[in-house]
Amino acid sequence: MAELTDARRVMGRCDILGAISEELGCLTRRFATPAMGEANRVVASWMRDAGMAVRQDSIGNVIGRYEARSPRAKTLLLGSHLDTVRDAGKYDGPLGVLVALALVERLYARGERLPFALEVVAFADEEGLRYHTAYLGSQALAGAFDHADLSLEDGDGIMMSQAIREFGGDPEAIAGEQRRPDETLAYCEVHIEQGPVLERHDLPVGVVSVIMGQSRFNVEFVGEAGHAGTVPMAMRHDALCAAAEFVLAVEELARADAGLVATVGQLTVGPGASNVIPGRAALSLDVRCLDDAVREKTLETLHKKAIEIGARRGVAVEWRQVQASTTIACAPKLNAMLSRAIEALGYEAIGLPSGAGHDAVALSALAPVAMLFVRCKGGVSHNPAESVTSEDVAVALDALDLFVNDFAVEQGAMA
Ligand code: GLV
Ligand code: MN
Ligand code: MN
Repeated sequence: MAELTDARRVMGRCDILGAISEELGCLTRRFATPAMGEANRVVASWMRDAGMAVRQDSIGNVIGRYEARSPRAKTLLLGSHLDTVRDAGKYDGPLGVLVALALVERLYARGERLPFALEVVAFADEEGLRYHTAYLGSQALAGAFDHADLSLEDGDGIMMSQAIREFGGDPEAIAGEQRRPDETLAYCEVHIEQGPVLERHDLPVGVVSVIMGQSRFNVEFVGEAGHAGTVPMAMRHDALCAAAEFVLAVEELARADAGLVATVGQLTVGPGASNVIPGRAALSLDVRCLDDAVREKTLETLHKKAIEIGARRGVAVEWRQVQASTTIACAPKLNAMLSRAIEALGYEAIGLPSGAGHDAVALSALAPVAMLFVRCKGGVSHNPAESVTSEDVAVALDALDLFVNDFAVEQGAMA
């Protein structure tokens, strides 16, 4: 049985961060908001107490650095994100930051330094809730941040560049956050599984093999607003009816292929009155598949379908990609090390793909990446009912401890 004290501290901290929200009665923490600032300050103070040098970088990531045994050593990155979806659970993201922090606390308490520096990064935006583009924080470190994104506006018309400045960041300095690949050894992230596989296998943790590619689009149907009482049905150009037909086409296409998932998660109707025919309907489209070619083909088919629906109904279609990432593989060598760690703790080490996106996707452009999944109740996530146990978190922390130790032995031997 793993020792539970450290895991219970991690769980308590998840509760503390889970109460830092933009909205009363539910957890919502978007990029560069006052709630994010508060979460950053709390995490930064825990990092300082664990002997780390801490800074908030120019995009809003909190980075705690635990120095190596000797200067000029390379860096192993650990972490996850602190932003959330709307009405979120409290473990998606924060758990990975806090398990990594707990590991550094163990090292600090033991007075132990490694042949490399450890940096725990609490990423500023992985969900993309505020600007619809995910991985803003990790893209900055990977040198993949797209400066065109700075002019995106949120739902209140606030430009990303302004939001970053108001948060205390500096849009002009984001390019300077890029890490050097020759100084970065790897990135390892602990995260809740967000699916049912580990529960089905009765296992506390598992190793991520691949992370599914995903595309996100904004699709807008533009028809003609009109009087709900006077415009005959045959003369209408109802944008919402076109959107509704499209939503069902998305579901039908995705259901026909077991490897494909597609979701419309957001729909805005304008002008938005019970006695006005909708003139505009804007929706989000999220398509994911392990096979990048299938994802691309699906998007092509859906685009044609939207145009066909629009043409038949006299409704224009605007189709705009906001984000795309290909399927990435976690590094086999790191996965073998994680598997050894899990087996050393007495559990079978299984590999599983991730349908969810993670900061590891962006960081895979910088360094080899690995991820350790933690079982979550019923596979439920992106939902306030998200739940993990202290016992499983204890196993994840011990596995990360063994992994980092193994990594240190290997690096020490190479030095
Ligand atoms: C992140 O949670 C995602 O939507 O993949
Ligand atoms: Mn998420
Ligand atoms: Mn996440």
